[in-house]
Amino acid sequence: MHGTIEIDNAARQRAAREEAYATPLSQFHPGAPRHFRDDTLWPWFERLRAEEPVHYCTNAPIAPYWSVTKYNDIMHVDTSHQIFSSDSTLGGISIRDAPQGYDWPSFIAMDEPRHSAQRKTVSPMFTPDHLDELAVLIRGRTQKVLDGLPRNETFNFVERVSIELTTQMLATLFDFPFAQRRKLTRWSDVATALPKSMIVASEEERRSELNECAATFAAMWNERVNSEPRNDLLSMMAHHDATRQMDRDNLIGNILLLIVGGNDTTRNTMTGSVLALNQNPDQFAKLRANPALIDTMVPEVIRWQTPLAHMRRTALQDTELGGKTIKKGDRVVMWYVSGNRDDEVIERPNEFIIDRKRAKIHLSFGFGIHRCVGMRLAELQLKIVWEEMLKRFERIEVVGEPKRVYSSFVKGYESLPVRIS
Ligand code: HEM
Repeated sequence: MHGTIEIDNAARQRAAREEAYATPLSQFHPGAPRHFRDDTLWPWFERLRAEEPVHYCTNAPIAPYWSVTKYNDIMHVDTSHQIFSSDSTLGGISIRDAPQGYDWPSFIAMDEPRHSAQRKTVSPMFTPDHLDELAVLIRGRTQKVLDGLPRNETFNFVERVSIELTTQMLATLFDFPFAQRRKLTRWSDVATALPKSMIVASEEERRSELNECAATFAAMWNERVNSEPRNDLLSMMAHHDATRQMDRDNLIGNILLLIVGGNDTTRNTMTGSVLALNQNPDQFAKLRANPALIDTMVPEVIRWQTPLAHMRRTALQDTELGGKTIKKGDRVVMWYVSGNRDDEVIERPNEFIIDRKRAKIHLSFGFGIHRCVGMRLAELQLKIVWEEMLKRFERIEVVGEPKRVYSSFVKGYESLPVRIS
């Protein structure tokens, strides 16, 4: 079984490399979701970094966009918010403009001063003191989930561990009814689904599910506004001047942001960590011999996975980058997934090295004013899950191909078959 998987993958990678090097740069569409579903994105970005690091794509089924593929250029765009806007009314933060009717404003898709005012309201959730409190809860729940896993039997790691643990966490952050927590997972999937992804059968179905999400949270919001402040994300927003008067669309936008932010990303990194350690048995042996390496393994796996492959901006003025002129109004995509493989900044970037020096310089959390507000929580969850897995299991073996998500935004997995023996 294992041998066949490796041969299939090697053949697929070879074919992708041939295709990427035979295609003229003028026809490149690096954001095509098929590259991400098939894990064949690498040679396309390798070629762009080497030959045309700032590239304009005009031949895609989506509107024209710039690709920024090198680490330092990405850093420049991400930290120049006066030039590159995140505003949803200009198109927002993903490669496709938000479809009509889905423009729910959230602070990740706002510029200053509104962005910082709203971000500030939820940041107390992620202070070191509060994370210390959460750590106790996370550890207890992780132990329970891991102790309940089947032995000597194939199961889907995504479903049984990654989704379960991140969804439990999310329910806690919102103080959402615990028994109904899988609704959060579903809404996160629906909110980020592409039409061809099969997650929803139609736009009507998508709209109806997100309307149910909106109605559920609107009722919870009314309850929070009319009660004493509590330590959950909704209550924090309900009792802060900057967010108390938010309209319904802005409220739903921020809630979806926090659901997607807290869900897909950590979930996919958790799954990715099992895959990476299976593909690199020497690194797993190193970790087994010295579990203290979890501290550097966590940022390394966040780089290796890059669970959000890109963030997009819109140029507010004409500007130069990488020898190209970007025009006011152009879409500019920062490919974190490519910057994280840039060998001018990251040594041996295609290797997974759990004791990497300066492991935290990766781009996966972004930089600048929108840098991930939940990053410490994500790192904490990943650290705890590995501490507890190492205590319990000799090995978690990947026994089949991962099924990857059809998206160039959320870079992750629908399933990963594993076995604990
Ligand atoms: C923003 C990645 C986990 C909540 C972001 C951004 C990225 C990112 C790339 C945008 C940065 C930019 O535009 O410069 C990740 C990764 C995670 C993770 C890789 C896990 C490995 C989380 C968690 C939460 C969260 C656990 C919350 C529970 C947010 C929010 C924002 C954000 C609210 C918007 C921040 C702003 O606009 O100021 N994240 N994230 N993320 N993330 Fe995360």
